[in-house]
Formats: sequence, C-alpha cells, structure tokens
Amino acid sequence: MQTTEDLLAGDVRGKRVLVRSDLNVPLDADRNITDDGRVRASVPTIKALSDAGAKVIVVAHLGRPKGAPEEKYSLQPVVGRLSELLGRDVAFASDTVGESAKEVVAGLADGDVAVLENLRFNPGETSKDEAERGAFADELAGLADAYVSDGFGVVHRKQASVYDIATRLPAHAGGLVRAEVEVLKRLTQDPQRPYAVVLGGAKVSDKLGVIANLLGTADRLLIGGGMVFTFLAAQGHEVGKSLLEADQVETVKGYLEEAKAKGVEIVLPTDIVVADSFSADSPHETVAADAIPADKMGLDIGPESATLFADQLSDCKTVFWNGPMGAFELAPFAAGTPALAQALVDATKNGALTVVGGGDSAAAVRQLGFADSDFGHISTGGGASLEYLEGKTLPGIDILSK
Ligand code: 3PG
Ligand code: MG
Repeated sequence: MQTTEDLLAGDVRGKRVLVRSDLNVPLDADRNITDDGRVRASVPTIKALSDAGAKVIVVAHLGRPKGAPEEKYSLQPVVGRLSELLGRDVAFASDTVGESAKEVVAGLADGDVAVLENLRFNPGETSKDEAERGAFADELAGLADAYVSDGFGVVHRKQASVYDIATRLPAHAGGLVRAEVEVLKRLTQDPQRPYAVVLGGAKVSDKLGVIANLLGTADRLLIGGGMVFTFLAAQGHEVGKSLLEADQVETVKGYLEEAKAKGVEIVLPTDIVVADSFSADSPHETVAADAIPADKMGLDIGPESATLFADQLSDCKTVFWNGPMGAFELAPFAAGTPALAQALVDATKNGALTVVGGGDSAAAVRQLGFADSDFGHISTGGGASLEYLEGKTLPGIDILSK
C-alpha cells in the first residue's frame, strides 16, 4: 500500500494532489461548526503536502444531500476553520468538477490549498451504478495527478471519491486512515483482556452485525441508550413507551443465549430514568430496569447502572465505546453519557487502551468538556469503526492495497 510518506519522498512540488478528507462536521442553525474534530484530524495530511509544495485539492462531503446542490449542505463554513488551523488562505470552489473547480485548480500555486464544494451535490458520488460513479470519478481524477485517501469516516462507503478514484490515479493511504486502522487492529488482533465494548444509541438494528461479531472477540458487552429496551424486552420485561424494536426481540434473545454459551458477559442497566414523554420538562423518576411502568418512557440509564458500568470497566485493558447512554441533549436525561465517558477516562488512567468510536460519540464527549487526551483514541469514524469491528471489508481501504 502506497502512503502519503511515499508521495512526499518523491518529487511532489507542483503536483496536484487530490485529498479525500472527512469534513462532515456538525453545524448549528447558523451554520457554525459545533465540533471541529474532523477538521483538526484532517489538517496534518493537508499541511504536510502543502509544506512540501504540492497543490492540494481537498474533496469532502457534508451531510446527505441527494445529488444536487443545497445551501445548507455547503462546505463553505468549513473552509474558514481549515484556513485558521492551517495558518494560510484556503481557496473554495463553488462546484466539485465544474467551471469553478477547474478555475480554482488552475489558479493554484505550489503549496496552495483549495476545498471543492460538497461531493454529494453530484449524483455520481454515491450512485450504486458503477458506470455513473465511474464517470464522476473520471472527472475528479482529471483535476489531479495523485490521490490521497484520508477520510477515515467514509472508508466503509463504496463511493466515487473513496473507491473508484483510487483506480484512476496513483493512490496513497493518508496518515489519518493509517492511524485509525492501527488502533482498530489493536481491538481486533489479540486485544489485551479484559476487553469490553460499550454500545449505545437508539437502534439495535444498526448494531446487529457488530454485536454478532463481538460475541466472538469481546469479554463484556455493556448496553446503554435506546437499544437497552429491546434487550430488556428479550428478557421478558415490560418497557412501557420506551423505544422498542419489536422485530429484533428474537434476534436479541439469540444473542443473549449465544453470549451465555460463549462466556461473554452482557451487562444491562439495572435502573432507568423514565418520563412521560421525550421532553426536558416531562416529570421524570428513576425506576428498576425490570419495573418500567407501562405508561412511561425510558430515556437514560440510572445512577446505579452508571456505577455498575464504571465498575465493569475498571479492570479492563481494552475498551471501545460507541453511542450515547441516554437522550443527553435533554438535561434530565444527560447524566448517563458523561458518567460513562468518565469511566473511560478512569480506565485510561489505569492503563487501558480506550477508544471512543465515532463522529457523534466523539462530538458528544468534547461537548461534555472532555479533552481528546483523556482517552486513548477518539476515532473520526463511527460507521467505519463499527464495520471494521464487525469484520467487514472496508472498500476504501481494500482498494488501496490493490
Ligand atoms: C459520518 O458522518 O459517519 C461520515 O462522515 C460518513 O457519512 P455518511 O454516513 O453520510 O456516509
Ligand atoms: Mg455518521
């Protein structure tokens, strides 16, 4: 696999290098960046190329526009932040492969950096049709002399700027992609034990594949977030008005049995914060997890569960965490997620390798005031790291070794 270092070792001055970054950052209603973690993580590769005199063309997506321009998904807000972090001007093209992009690229001097508008404004980027994707990849490739894949958060996507382009230009793995994969290897190839995985978030159906695979690798699986209720239902408990994926109950029962047979501990919350409705001013109380009233909705793990989870992580040597423990955007249900984050911080201090997996979980811990250095690693890719742990082949990485 060729890397950015190989590219830098050659004569890169004056070469046009197309870098696929993941700049998919959360924005508020005024389109201010609320977590710039992905921009910061993208800087080292862009900076190294720019410092070496390459003409750097950064391509990325923001959100999920449907193949046509939409102002709210413009990458424009990211350009200013990237420019600040790089300490140099960054040009911006108002399209991806059109007149503006061609003009901006033609105007680049050695060491200059440009960002092109959202890749997903073009239907070819995400098309399932190989020919349509390929045609867009041809256009992208026409802008550059070399390609660097540095958007770890999208390596699980078989998309034009991630996959097809790598067959059209000399392709290189960027430092971010390689660093992320190195950490994930430590979770999958002979992890230090005990190895615990904490999964949260709303839907168990998003995590089925990874749970199935983890039953063969992890020692403990801690479950929080909305997923909990499908597990509690599988154990035969009432879950009231809580989020429940009724069609997954049987599958989850199977996991509980398989876990028992394999000696994997599945740790569920013992208490739950419940309310009448999904609202910050709804009256709330903490109840036992096996005694959720039929007219209540569970919205966070309770304090006893937070202590239990912390205890379960305290002797771990390896911990991976993806997904919030509760509806932490609403104050009364916001205690479980920071408690879990603190348990990871403590495990880190005890020498464990702790990994926060994912864009959303990463943004959450930073919003809660934790520092990146409190954890072993904060991944820039949620979906990508889960698919890696699931044992899937990631198209954007696979293609680089071909
Ligand atoms: C993410 O936010 O997880 C990545 O940027 C990938 O985005 P996607 O899930 O829309 O492909
Ligand atoms: Mg995402």
